Amino acid sequence: MSRIIDGKLVSAKVRANVAKETEELKEKGVSVGLAVVIVGNDPASRVYVNNKKKACAEVGFISREYALPEETTQQELLDLVNELNNDKEINGILVQLPLPKHLDEKQVIEAISPLKDVDAFNAVNVGKIMIGDYDFLPCTPAGVMEMLKEYDIDPKSKNCVVIGRSNIVGKPMAMLLLHKHGTVTICHSRTVNLKEICAKADILVAAIGKAKFVTADMVKEGAVVIDVGMNRDENGKLCGDVDFENVKDKAEAITPVPGGVGPMTIAMLMKNTLKAAKLQNGIEE
Ligand code: GUN
Repeated sequence: MSRIIDGKLVSAKVRANVAKETEELKEKGVSVGLAVVIVGNDPASRVYVNNKKKACAEVGFISREYALPEETTQQELLDLVNELNNDKEINGILVQLPLPKHLDEKQVIEAISPLKDVDAFNAVNVGKIMIGDYDFLPCTPAGVMEMLKEYDIDPKSKNCVVIGRSNIVGKPMAMLLLHKHGTVTICHSRTVNLKEICAKADILVAAIGKAKFVTADMVKEGAVVIDVGMNRDENGKLCGDVDFENVKDKAEAITPVPGGVGPMTIAMLMKNTLKAAKLQNGIEE
């Protein structure tokens, strides 16, 4: 019987800690504020933003939502980011991605002050992660590391395979596993022998965005399987990148979808925002 890694449980623990520290800051007269910017009408983004706002309220943050119309111009968005960079009540800025096609995502991300970049998407923060000297970690990979820690899974000397090479998940995920002394392989759509490489993994992280892509024959007996995917199956039901039903008995530990990595992402966003507030107020960790 494999262990089911419970993201709801671990995320509740992280959020409870953030709430406690936020309360302590309040007693010192320091508030924590997150600005969430959403452009257009993407339904998935709307759900994510609502969840982020709800989480902010629960941990005691001030949250401000900026819902901009689809036809917002690049300059209008940059002006808002700049305004938020200079806003003393706001410690963290999150621009929900993807942006509508006519907007330049990269330029917007670079406009966010690295000190308020709680997604850790800005090139300054990405570079800091690369050299292992960072303030913020991107929320999803950081959430995965937190779950591994909570379940006593140590990547040290393990064969770690990450499927997917996005800037948001795959690349930073590989780096964080490397920082913990894992032997890391990154696979992607052009990888030859992908199945064979995955089948050698002690820790397999699926972040490819294809429903039930990881089948039982790709998983080693006793592996740890982390599913970052969030897809709909043929019946419209939420599912991950891993064929959970067929993989779960082979894995030593596995994350479900929903209830695995998803809740961790928001918890780590709260953690980053708290840290941003502390740094901006000169409060030591
Ligand atoms: N869209 C999907 N995931 C994320 C995320 O972690 N941060 C932002 N800003 N947008 C996203």
